[in-house]
Amino acid sequence: MQERVSIPPDQLMQVDIMGFRHAIRDITFDVYLKISDDNVARVFSGSTGLDYKRLAQYIQKGVKFLFIEKKDHERYLQFVGVTAETIFKDPHTSPEKKIATLLNMTEQNIAETLAQFHVDEETANDTQKIIHNYVDLMTEKPSTLGIILKLASHGEYLYYHSIAVAIFSMFIARATGQFNKKMIELIGLGGFLHDIGSTQLPKEVVNSPSDLTVEQWKIMHTHPKLGLQMVENNKVIPEEVRYIIYQHHEEPSGHGYPNSIRGPVIYYPAKIVAIADAFSALISKRPFREAYSVEEAIQIIEKAVGKFDKDLVKMLPAIFLRPEKRQAS
Ligand SMILES: [Fe+2]
Repeated sequence: MQERVSIPPDQLMQVDIMGFRHAIRDITFDVYLKISDDNVARVFSGSTGLDYKRLAQYIQKGVKFLFIEKKDHERYLQFVGVTAETIFKDPHTSPEKKIATLLNMTEQNIAETLAQFHVDEETANDTQKIIHNYVDLMTEKPSTLGIILKLASHGEYLYYHSIAVAIFSMFIARATGQFNKKMIELIGLGGFLHDIGSTQLPKEVVNSPSDLTVEQWKIMHTHPKLGLQMVENNKVIPEEVRYIIYQHHEEPSGHGYPNSIRGPVIYYPAKIVAIADAFSALISKRPFREAYSVEEAIQIIEKAVGKFDKDLVKMLPAIFLRPEKRQAS
């Protein structure tokens, strides 16, 4: 918890709060939050470590900077210098260490996604448990560990987005009232893995800062097929999840890819993941644009007629907006 401390301002230095996001090791120094012009509170300590839920809440409240003591600058640089990618790609790092890093990243990403919405404690805990189960399940077998490590090391956005899509897909699936618990979990797993095919694409295409060229679009359009190929012979990944991976860019109008199949033929859970995918992408800040608000994201999806299942679209305000912001339409 916060502990008010008095440290002379000239001994403190300001650091970007985003430096603590996706941290893959724990802090070895204390971190402070400014509570008035000459007062700070210790919010995380080197002995107890970071608390991701609280960190996500600070980010959500608009806190941009935290403070460290100048004497800890070297430790701070060490802390932010080690990225998930360096750990995952280092052949000398043990699988146990890689898995611990992955779980740590996962926990932070879940906390950050959930902090954006008013989710009750039980839903938050359930969601966290389900996603941890996927990650545990996938890290047990070398064939799936490789897939998940690829997902986590192909740029920060892809993993964050995968977690968010898993969570949003489960929320939407539950709201339809048409699935049992087991199926909701599978739809979440489909959301988590929907873009694994992207790990086979060049990073310049996946993280392109601007609109893609025609050539790049062609490459982009191959990711559902590539994803399917990655899991096709994998016994750990159920068939339902394979359909989701393969069909998450099909559109009811028939203008989607890879097969331009039409509404009734598209696997229903794939339609759910398609909306969760678009919603997560819209509310995220991208290199080429700012994040849209939840209201704006819903409006954009509502206006994209033919792109998404219209009955699912109608459910979005009730799922993602606070009651006072829902408009009767
Ligand atoms: Fe995709």
